Amino acid sequence: MTFPVRGEIVRAPLFHTPRNPFLEAAALEAFSDGALFIQQGKILDCGDYTALQAAHPDATVTDLRGGFLLPGLIDTHIHFPQLRVLGGLGKELLTWLEEFALPEEARMAELSYACETAHRFVRALVSHGTTTALVFGAHFGGATAALFQAGLQSGLRIVSGMVLSDRLLRPELRQTHEHAYRDCTDLIARFHRQARLLYAVTPRFALSSSEAMLEVCTTLMREHEGLRFQTHLNENRREVEEVARLFPWAQDYLGVYDRFGLTGRGAVMAHNVHCSDAELERLAGSGTAVSHCPCSNAALGSGFFPLRRHIQAGVQCSLGTDVGAGTGFGILKEGLQAYLLQRLAPEGFTLDPEHLLYLATRGGAEALNLGDEIGDFTPGKAADFVYLRPPKNSTLAAVIERADDLQRVLAALFTLGDATCVREVRVAGSKVYCAGSDDD
Ligand code: GUN
Ligand code: ZN
Repeated sequence: MTFPVRGEIVRAPLFHTPRNPFLEAAALEAFSDGALFIQQGKILDCGDYTALQAAHPDATVTDLRGGFLLPGLIDTHIHFPQLRVLGGLGKELLTWLEEFALPEEARMAELSYACETAHRFVRALVSHGTTTALVFGAHFGGATAALFQAGLQSGLRIVSGMVLSDRLLRPELRQTHEHAYRDCTDLIARFHRQARLLYAVTPRFALSSSEAMLEVCTTLMREHEGLRFQTHLNENRREVEEVARLFPWAQDYLGVYDRFGLTGRGAVMAHNVHCSDAELERLAGSGTAVSHCPCSNAALGSGFFPLRRHIQAGVQCSLGTDVGAGTGFGILKEGLQAYLLQRLAPEGFTLDPEHLLYLATRGGAEALNLGDEIGDFTPGKAADFVYLRPPKNSTLAAVIERADDLQRVLAALFTLGDATCVREVRVAGSKVYCAGSDDD
């Protein structure tokens, strides 16, 4: 990729959250005639177009007026082998796993099937405006490598790892400890810190992991610098009860992961619907993040996410689509669903558009310990952005014509925005996606 030497100004109305709206007032920055000044893949300036143009008169100008720029969307919980199980409604977690998800995950043993799924998966991410994703790989080294390869080709930031389990699940999804250690070590050597890839140690959940398997996770985390960690936590009441039975020594579900040193910055726990105050306190204290997956929580009937309690405890939260228990790849939709469910939840939290944007972008960057590199348009960060332009005759276009201010526009983008609005996606300044036809 070659960049214009004198830099590029990308002109369009823009939104970002350089501050955390759960902690600070006026966290949203928006410019109706906005611009980013980009050089060598980095943002060097962000603000009003006229001022930026005067400051950088030699820059090439890309005029994207008519649409809107947002920081690249960040999905902090998604399963690549579950692309084809989307839409399996009507079950709770454990029966959904058994009947829908795990039979499909077993098919990833066949490499050609896994490769095709991986390519469709990264295409679906980018076409929804997602530039960074924390992804559950497959239970097989080959299929997980296929995801990393597809990630490399796509130019996206993919954080992923082979899914580890040694009990409960059907036999073909279980690994021996030696095999798990060997395959993960190999994948880390091949992919961790290659281009925009990172490796995340990924035990499926405590229910399918013996103490010996969690010990393998600890060893991997100790042996390699900069790994991330992901798993599930407190998603479903039956799951929580079963974990208590299997780990009688643990004070609570989180206590299982704590015991093996698997919490801390760069660790992301999905769901955390049924949590205690003690767990929230320890999550906040250790800098462990929680990926909130509202579509999945509703689809599986897992429960209302206690967002207010997470915020009050100081837990870092972000959004996850949780494909395939969720309802698709759209992080904008996930923001809307978070908003809707919080309107109904006992002791819910009324989320403003700036909260939604933060959860969809900077919150994800913080959760992944990438807050210095991505998540908003602060100068020095990578130029990751999504350009949204509603199709000409769409309802969203009509709503935006009438919107009085940028807050209303942002709310409308979360309410009605989907893949049909995603026109261009860039990661570190490079185009990784460009929608085919221009309008409608
Ligand atoms: N817990 C363990 N595995 C899974 C999974 O694949 N999806 C969800 N939502 N929860 C899980
Ligand atoms: Zn999940």
